[in-house]
Amino acid sequence: MSLDKAQEIAPETLAQVRGSFPILAQKIGDHPLIYLDNAATTQKPLAVIDAVTRYYREDNANIHRGVHALSQRATSAYEDARASVARFIGAADSGEIIFTRGTTEAINLVAWSFVRPRLKKGDVILLTEMEHHANIVPWQQVAEASGARVVPAPVTGAGEVDLDAFRGLLQREPVALAAFVYVSNSLGTVNPVEAMLAAAREAGVPTLVDAAQAVSQRPLDAASLGCDFLAFSGHKLFGPTGVGVLYGKRAHLESMPPYQGGGDMIANVSFAGTTFKGPPERFEAGTPHIAGVVGLGAAVEWFKGLPREQLWAHEDALVRRATEGLSGIDGVRIIGTAREKVSVISFLLDAAHPHDIGTFLDAEGIAIRAGHHCCQPLMARYGVPGTARASFSIYNTMEEADRLVTAVRRVARFFS
Ligand code: ALA
Repeated sequence: MSLDKAQEIAPETLAQVRGSFPILAQKIGDHPLIYLDNAATTQKPLAVIDAVTRYYREDNANIHRGVHALSQRATSAYEDARASVARFIGAADSGEIIFTRGTTEAINLVAWSFVRPRLKKGDVILLTEMEHHANIVPWQQVAEASGARVVPAPVTGAGEVDLDAFRGLLQREPVALAAFVYVSNSLGTVNPVEAMLAAAREAGVPTLVDAAQAVSQRPLDAASLGCDFLAFSGHKLFGPTGVGVLYGKRAHLESMPPYQGGGDMIANVSFAGTTFKGPPERFEAGTPHIAGVVGLGAAVEWFKGLPREQLWAHEDALVRRATEGLSGIDGVRIIGTAREKVSVISFLLDAAHPHDIGTFLDAEGIAIRAGHHCCQPLMARYGVPGTARASFSIYNTMEEADRLVTAVRRVARFFS
C-alpha cells in the first residue's frame, strides 16, 4: 500500500466515478448491492457500455476484409483500440499488441508458440506458488510434451514470494522461462516484479508477467519493466469479457510460429503450402471479438482519464479499513498479509465454511467470492480448501467496507 501519500480524493469525484457504473445502483432483495467481487471481474462504466452498443448499432462489420464504409470504420475502431492499449502499457508500437480471448489464451499462446519450440528435456519453467491456474496448467502441458519440469518458487506465510529462493532457482536450474503474477488475485500481494525481472535478466531467462490483476491496480509500463511478455484481460480493467492482450517484444513475436491457423493471419494460401502475415495479425486467426476490442479500447481511454493515483489511494484505504474491522472479529483469520498488498482480502472464519459466508453475505446484498480462486496449489500451501474473498475497486465506498465488516460479524455470531 505505497500510495498512501497521494492526495485525498474529493467526495464528488468519487461519486462521479461510482455514478459511471449503472449496475451498482440496484438492490439485491431489500439491500443495496455491495459489489466486492472485483478480482473476479470489474463492473463496466457507461463509456464502455456505450462504445460496445454504438459499435453494434452503427459500425458492425468484419474487419480487415471489406472495402465498404462499415468495414473500414470497424477496422479503424479495432486498430485504434490496439494503439490505445499499446500507449497504455508502454509498448514500442501496436505490432507488439496481440488481442486474445483473455490472459489465459495469451499465456497459452506464449507456451505453445514461444516456449514449446525451444523447450528441451530437463528444462525448467519457473513459476511461483501463488500462480493462478492459467499460469500453471499451460506450462504443465508444454512441459509434459517435452520432458521439461515446472518448478514453483515458494511463498512465505505472509503471502510474499521468497525472492532469495526465486533467485536461487534461476541460478541453479536450467530455466527456459520465468512466468509470474504481478498482483495475486487470491491474496492481493503485489510482487516485487522489478527485482524478479532483474534477476531473470541477469540469468538470461525470458519472462512473462501475468498482469491480469495488476492492470487496474498499478501503472503498467512494459518497456520500463523490461519483461519479454505481459498478459492481461479486458474484463478486469472495466472492459468486456472474452477479450485480452498479449504484449510481446517484437523480436520474439517475429520469431514465433502461429498459434492457430485460419483467416486473416495468412499472406498466401495454396494446397502446396501457406505463408503467414507478421505479428500481430499472425496470431489473430479468424474473426476476432471486435466489439470486445472496441470496448477494451474505450475502457483504457476512460481509465486513463481518471485521477488514478488518488483512486488507488482511496481503494487502499478501503482495504485497510476492512482489514482492521475483520481482524477485530473473533475467529477471523486473514490469509495473505504481505507488506505490499492491494484490493483483496482473503479470509477464513473458524465457525463457517467460506461458501456459507458467501451465501450469508449475498442475502445482505454483498457479493464476494468463496472458493480456491483458481489457485489450488496456493490454497494447499496454506492447508485450506479455499477462502472467502472480498475484493475492492475504485468505485467502492467506506460505508460498503464497514457494511462488509458488520455482516461478517453477524455471520461469526450466527455460526458460533
Ligand atoms: N481469476 C478470477 C478470480 O480471481 C476469475 O476470481
